[in-house]
Amino acid sequence: MNSHQAIKISDRVYWVGAIDWELRDFHGYSTSRGTTYNAYLVLGSNPILIDTVKAPFWDEMLARISSIIDPTKIDYIISNHAEMDHSGCLERAIETFKPKQVFASKMGIKALEDHFHFNHSITELPNKESLTLGDANFTFLETRMLHWPDSMFTYFANDGILFSQDGFGMHLATSKIFADQNDPAILRHEAAKYYANILLPYSNFVTRLLAQFPSFNLDVKMIAPDHGPIWRNPNDINTILNWWSNWAAQKFYPKAVIAYDTMWQSTAKMAHSIADGLLAENIEVKVMPLSGSHRSDIIAELLEAGAFIVGSPTINQQLFPTVAAMLCYFKGLKPQNLIGQVFGSYGWGAEAIKLLQDELKTMQIELVENPVSVKYVPTAEVLTNCRDLGINIAKQLTAKLEK
Ligand code: FEO
Repeated sequence: MNSHQAIKISDRVYWVGAIDWELRDFHGYSTSRGTTYNAYLVLGSNPILIDTVKAPFWDEMLARISSIIDPTKIDYIISNHAEMDHSGCLERAIETFKPKQVFASKMGIKALEDHFHFNHSITELPNKESLTLGDANFTFLETRMLHWPDSMFTYFANDGILFSQDGFGMHLATSKIFADQNDPAILRHEAAKYYANILLPYSNFVTRLLAQFPSFNLDVKMIAPDHGPIWRNPNDINTILNWWSNWAAQKFYPKAVIAYDTMWQSTAKMAHSIADGLLAENIEVKVMPLSGSHRSDIIAELLEAGAFIVGSPTINQQLFPTVAAMLCYFKGLKPQNLIGQVFGSYGWGAEAIKLLQDELKTMQIELVENPVSVKYVPTAEVLTNCRDLGINIAKQLTAKLEK
């Protein structure tokens, strides 16, 4: 018996992707719940494959396709995104299935050629134009920088499905193919984490796309991304679109994130006192020691926060390495609308404080109040200063929210 069955998602479309239960790192993003690589098979007079899967999952995709049709019957392949978790099996699929045509966006063709250096001919899909392939009607939307220059959505008009590649996706390995079959809290958490780690720097493009969306006049009954579950009913579709709209706008709430590392618990004690001050002013707080918190989880918490407070000991005149690595990662992701401040302990030189402030200024985080630093171990007075810092940041955040 074929152990990998295709799953029917609409009248004419089957999911033929792969579940990666084991993935724990997606180039620096901790994927603690694994992921899926979603590929889709559109049946009709001329079967069409939309996207493929990461190269090691060829057998799984092939088995799922074979559970429905002879794969050599596939006449067309549409590649929405050149990143190798979706194009990794494209060349093998072209050579095995021998489709009549392969399609991608203009930038997609360049990206695929630069990845695979192959001689296969790929046909360009003009942006916002419709195309009929046999009895299947499609419209293509370039979504440049969401999140690569080549990125494209494909709308299958017959069944009202928007194949959105990475858009509206998440890293979540699940055998429950539809969003409404999964735990809503996990969906929100993983969708936010995906947005924060993959899409955040491109939020202006997201906002523009969502604003233009109604003008495309697409009757979207289902959003089928390339990772995670499929959004299939109007409520769920509205939910993911609203999440994305708010995240792209960098809407923030009375919430603060304190991230730090510590050598002998001095910086940790300071973090706890700052948190105490924030809590006293009714601000939600996430205290995230880098010894136990991955930077990709911290940016996920920061997505809806209004304040970011960072602590580091000074070690050999530098930032603690985990703190420096986190800030390097965050500078690329470009979170917006944050106020913040820094803190930390030192032995004989407090270089980390200035280094931290410089990093936060580079990130365009508005520094409010004054930093707190301490030689070696904080006294009760220093911890009171930390608590006061928390209180004052909370007041500034509340005032900013009331504006
Ligand atoms: Fe899932 Fe940008 O690849």
